Amino acid sequence: MRNFHTQVLHALVPLLLLSVFSHSGLGQILFQGFNWESWKQQGGWYNLLKTQVADIAASGATHVWLPPASQSVSEQGYLPGRLYDLNVSKYGDQAGLKSLIQAFHNQGIKCIADIVINHRTAEKQDSRGIYCIFEGGTPDTRLDWGPHMICSDDTTYSDGTGNPDTGAGYPPAPDIDHLNPRVQQELSDWMNWLKTDIGFDGWRFDFAKGYSAAMAKIYLERTVPSFAVAEIWSSLAYDGDGKPSYNQDGNRQELVNWVNGVGGKAMAFDFTTKGILQAAVEGELWRLIDVNGKAPGLIGWLPGNAVTFVDNHDTGSTQKLWPFPSDKVMQGYAYIVTHPGIPSIFYDHIFLWGLKDEISKLAAIRTRNGINPSSNLRIIAHDSDLYMAAIDEKIIAKIGSRYDVGNLVPSNFKLATSGNNYAVWEKM
Ligand SMILES: *[C@@H]1O[C@H](CO)[C@@H](O)[C@H](O)[C@H]1NC(C)=O
Repeated sequence: MRNFHTQVLHALVPLLLLSVFSHSGLGQILFQGFNWESWKQQGGWYNLLKTQVADIAASGATHVWLPPASQSVSEQGYLPGRLYDLNVSKYGDQAGLKSLIQAFHNQGIKCIADIVINHRTAEKQDSRGIYCIFEGGTPDTRLDWGPHMICSDDTTYSDGTGNPDTGAGYPPAPDIDHLNPRVQQELSDWMNWLKTDIGFDGWRFDFAKGYSAAMAKIYLERTVPSFAVAEIWSSLAYDGDGKPSYNQDGNRQELVNWVNGVGGKAMAFDFTTKGILQAAVEGELWRLIDVNGKAPGLIGWLPGNAVTFVDNHDTGSTQKLWPFPSDKVMQGYAYIVTHPGIPSIFYDHIFLWGLKDEISKLAAIRTRNGINPSSNLRIIAHDSDLYMAAIDEKIIAKIGSRYDVGNLVPSNFKLATSGNNYAVWEKM
């Protein structure tokens, strides 16, 4: 009986800590709940994910990012048209989505909607044969738009009466004119409907490079999400030899500019950290410090507004547009899960790569030590084969092939977890 009680207590303590931190806004961990192939799932993705809610909670996640749910020309959901129609998605229907969100909420996990509003596919052609007549998916006229809602410089689809695009163009579909007050109002109303009627708690802005931060700020102010993160896919700078430059300040500045542009009310995925980290783990760990002694990615400048990641449905999965070296993925997690910023965990690594136990151990260390987005980072070593850092002076993380680091770990720290070329110690 005594053993039984001890076990119950050990099981409860992380749960209690988890709920304390998620309520105070600290210790958040985002889980990306899909990959590029999820739409093919027999029986529907929402139904499958519902059976995995407990595992996702056990991995330490406080938020889950779900795939775009609206009717879409492409199976994955990134060419949406009838935004209010959640019944024809390959992932499942509106009732299935609501039930999934309820299951996550029952575990204290918040749900993040993938907001694809830069562009939108039209339902019908106009008299010229151009696809520019939009339908909202409601019996009334909400989101029933015409060519005036398309940016004037979108030469493929526009009649030239919208405003010029405030961001980058997106060739496959009409770019929406976010300066149009009706567009702003009806998209905000739709997002608020996703909150109140469907149950979503926050947003992941797809292709947020496609419209200005000032536009994103409008949607943030009118919908007040408890969590919001933007995909600003910044590039890296490269040297003549084709390798990433040591200094990536120009690229992390692009992320900072977006965060400042929305008034600091949202986060950006830390593409700079991803790019540097995946180069660094190839025997170039000296990359993991900037000239001021800070982390070289967005987390070195604005950790409270950075969502770090190793791979997502674009960079990894079956698309592999910019994949992390597959044999060094755990070193990536040992870095992002112990470091400032909000780490995100990719579905594939937990459920397809068999890394659930290893990643969950790292997340538990983060949670029980109260590591949060703005935790203090002190870099201890940054050699080719060894990177070591203390976070809040409570944990020490090491990645790299150098094995003997004993003299760098104070005697009042004990090993908390370790794996192939990574280790984490905790203060006793
Ligand atoms: C989708 O189905 C739900 C019932 O689950 C219904 O309430 C809703 O009106 C439907 N939406 C559309 C656009 O057909």
